Amino acid sequence: MIQQGGAPGSGSARPAAPRGDFPLQTGADHLIRLESITKIYGSGDAAVVALDDFSLDVEAGELLAVMGPSGSGKSTLMNILGCLDTPTSGRYWFGGEDVSRLNETQLAHVRNRRIGFVFQQFQLLPRLSAWRNVELPLLYRGEHDRRALALHALDQVGLSNRVDHRPTQLSGGQQQRVAIARALVTDPDLILADEPTGNLDSVASRDVLAILRDLNQQGRTIVIITHDPEVAPVAQRTVVMRDGRLVHGVAA
Ligand SMILES: Nc1ncnc2c1ncn2[C@@H]1O[C@H](COP(=O)(O)OP(=O)(O)O)[C@@H](O)[C@H]1O
Ligand SMILES: [Mg+2]
Repeated sequence: MIQQGGAPGSGSARPAAPRGDFPLQTGADHLIRLESITKIYGSGDAAVVALDDFSLDVEAGELLAVMGPSGSGKSTLMNILGCLDTPTSGRYWFGGEDVSRLNETQLAHVRNRRIGFVFQQFQLLPRLSAWRNVELPLLYRGEHDRRALALHALDQVGLSNRVDHRPTQLSGGQQQRVAIARALVTDPDLILADEPTGNLDSVASRDVLAILRDLNQQGRTIVIITHDPEVAPVAQRTVVMRDGRLVHGVAA
């Protein structure tokens, strides 16, 4: 069960995370602020610097594409942005809260409450209908109007006529739309998409990107981590990574 309120188990007097407003501590209207983030895997001779003094701001309402070759640190960045991992050093502010030093329970709380994930492989449960997949994040919270919220999210991705279909009865593009609805249903502050078009043909890719763009135009903050050059045209901003750093002025 997800715990309500402050920081369980830490023993510190840290205030509960504010939601929807941006306290003075960051002094900016950024949803995300990464300050000199370094992530080192392993130690000694085996140490790998996956993120190297990496700084990035993402404003609320932005659609950002993060590109870069294999090994450049994209997945490491995704894990930190998604509160799935913590940096070795540096600070990560999310919605005005310093989340770079949270323990696993606290990270899970931020993740479940505030971030919606979309993955390359869709990650739908095959035995469940579309709407049952979409309601899953709500089950963990004990939400009441789960079916209505799930149907609304499916409507937002244009799948009102497929709510009782199982994943195997849907095309790849439709499955990814169900996954986007599942990410949306909790009304998260951020949608974080990892190669969302990586398993789709070009028609389905365009379809999924159009949905992400529409959601962004309705005010949703979205970060897409991708190899796909088709993503850049729908993004307001594209950044390119190489060797754990941002490369400026390099076309994707
Ligand atoms: N768990 C890990 N242990 C050791 N090295 C890792 C680990 N994860 C990633 N790396 C290394 O960190 C660098 C960045 O990897 P990654 O973030 O997966 O890049 P990308 O997603 O852009 O391919 C690579 O050199 C990779 O080999
Ligand atoms: Mg990767």
